Amino acid sequence: MHISKLLLIFPAFLASVSDAHPLAPYTTFETLPSAPRGWKEVSNRAVDLSTPIKLRIHLTQQNVHQFEKALIDMSTPGHSSYGNHMNQAQIDDILRPHEDTTTAVKSWLESKGFGNELSFRNDWIVVSTTIGKAESLLQAKYKVFRNSETGKDVVRTLSYSIPRNLHSSVALIQPTTLFGSTSAMKSTILRVEDPSVLKSAFLSKAKLNTTGIDAACQSSITPDCLADLYKYKDYKPVKLANNILGVNGFLEQYAQNDDLSKFLKKYHPNAKNATFNCNPINGGKCTQHPSEDFTEANLDIQYTVGASNPIPNIYYSTAGRPPAVDLDPNTNEPYLEWLEYMLDLKDEDMPKTITTSYGDDEHTVPLSYALKVCNMIGQLGARGVSVLFSSGDSGPGDDCTTKNGEKRFVPTFPATCPFSTSVGGTFGVQPEKAVSFSSGGFSNYFARPDYQDSAVGSYISTQADAAAYRNYYNASGRAFPDISAQGSRFHVFVGGYDQLVSGTSASSPAFAAVISLVNNDRIHRGEKPLGFLNPWLYTVATEKKGIVDITSGTSKGCSRSIPGAGWKATTGWDPVTGLGTPDFSILKDL
Ligand SMILES: *[C@@H]1O[C@H](CO)[C@@H](O)[C@H](O)[C@H]1NC(C)=O
Ligand SMILES: *[C@@H]1O[C@H](CO)[C@@H](O)[C@H](O)[C@H]1NC(C)=O
Ligand SMILES: *[C@@H]1O[C@H](CO)[C@@H](O)[C@H](O)[C@H]1NC(C)=O
Repeated sequence: MHISKLLLIFPAFLASVSDAHPLAPYTTFETLPSAPRGWKEVSNRAVDLSTPIKLRIHLTQQNVHQFEKALIDMSTPGHSSYGNHMNQAQIDDILRPHEDTTTAVKSWLESKGFGNELSFRNDWIVVSTTIGKAESLLQAKYKVFRNSETGKDVVRTLSYSIPRNLHSSVALIQPTTLFGSTSAMKSTILRVEDPSVLKSAFLSKAKLNTTGIDAACQSSITPDCLADLYKYKDYKPVKLANNILGVNGFLEQYAQNDDLSKFLKKYHPNAKNATFNCNPINGGKCTQHPSEDFTEANLDIQYTVGASNPIPNIYYSTAGRPPAVDLDPNTNEPYLEWLEYMLDLKDEDMPKTITTSYGDDEHTVPLSYALKVCNMIGQLGARGVSVLFSSGDSGPGDDCTTKNGEKRFVPTFPATCPFSTSVGGTFGVQPEKAVSFSSGGFSNYFARPDYQDSAVGSYISTQADAAAYRNYYNASGRAFPDISAQGSRFHVFVGGYDQLVSGTSASSPAFAAVISLVNNDRIHRGEKPLGFLNPWLYTVATEKKGIVDITSGTSKGCSRSIPGAGWKATTGWDPVTGLGTPDFSILKDL
């Protein structure tokens, strides 16, 4: 009797002590089986343990589902709270971590001898320390890894642990396991050509018989082609102080004034004096050095400024890389740095539309990091911002064999975040068709949101591709892209010369410019900006033909592991062109 009673009581007693005590036993919090594809450990290069590192410990938020529901409601046309965007204080009140969460994490850090600094929104803690001390705090082993494509080294750990009782209090700790793909955060530009490849077609000013658009737009894209095709040529936006169009730049890509000015003079003489402001973040720069290869930055800014003039454009230049071996002081990942900066902006400084032409293979982004970044993209949506990302340039995927030999298509993040609007690519104007590199597919991290149920559900249950590729994708995942725009052979000035640039990197700024014009018109009429677009795109925008369905063309990818793989564009939503391309003349009045 006595013995059995003791046996019953003793484990219960132990468990209650370890749950309350800050020094409960450590258990693994996050682990990768090995470095992601494209990264190899450099075994002969030791990590200097005295290297400074800034750990950010993100605390678990409260009421995440309540917040997401509020975001969807305020973004769904016809809902009683449609357009009731929030300010950051309201969002913070919903999501702020519970006091006990903060206290538990702080006392753990203090018991280990770490001073720490709470962010002013109280949702993350920064610990400025060294790699050696971070290793002992997190029971981690930082090693040097090299990217096989770029030759760049980063310091990362494949696994880290925290006390068991804190697992529910911590959302993520970085930098730890985040590598980024072989093309980590790289511009998704596919190809650059010299315009001399265009020969006579380029010169043809003849009008196409069904669309009335210049025949030259079949072979290369200028701002006039987009204005004709997406029907905003005759719209004259008025300058409003509170409708800013934001363009995101990472990876030391700097938009150039000289190139913009040459571009506007040649292709957009009515806007030839238009400029942009550059806003540095996290030590980012606004360098003017026209002879360098800033293709991505120039493409993005030339197509937003050109189409949206006189709407003010801001180029957000965010620095930051994984912690470098060579004592790079910028140790934070750029998406988090950028999002923190944006969410701290006052309402009047917040752009209403933002385009980003950077992304990673989803499986190379740790789940905890993807969830956090996506939640913050959702917060931008709740502030009334439309956030667009290019979908990527590898069709269903590039390298489609997983580490354990399985064949799988490869989705792109943040395009797979359900609160981002993902933009695929098209080419040609009569008809406009899917371009083969346009990435699309299904997330393995994020479930399909309700707003996609009808469009994507019907694609999956009726299309031959959906059945044929069933083993290569996750049918319950968030499907992307949402919409598309031209992505092939854009005239862009780079280093003083006219070049032809292709990629969904072009599609996202092209679509964002149209959204910025719609926002301009709405705000001018005293209405709310569009904010998070998707519930609107999947309902009224499509039903009222403000989105034009693209029904021909096929994507291509996975050539080494799944020969012939690619998604066909079809009637309705498809994983190449999403719902289709914009018609401003209709979108403006919805
Ligand atoms: C437009 O021109 C194409 C060939 O250039 C032709 O096949 C098509 O029938 C024409 N359509 C109309 C409506 O004239
Ligand atoms: C551009 O600026 C010049 C010099 O300030 C001015 O004379 C010209 O009218 C402007 N052009 C346009 C199209 O705004
Ligand atoms: C498929 O997607 C669901 C929903 O996001 C997810 O829970 C599941 O883990 C995914 N499956 C695979 C094999 O990735």
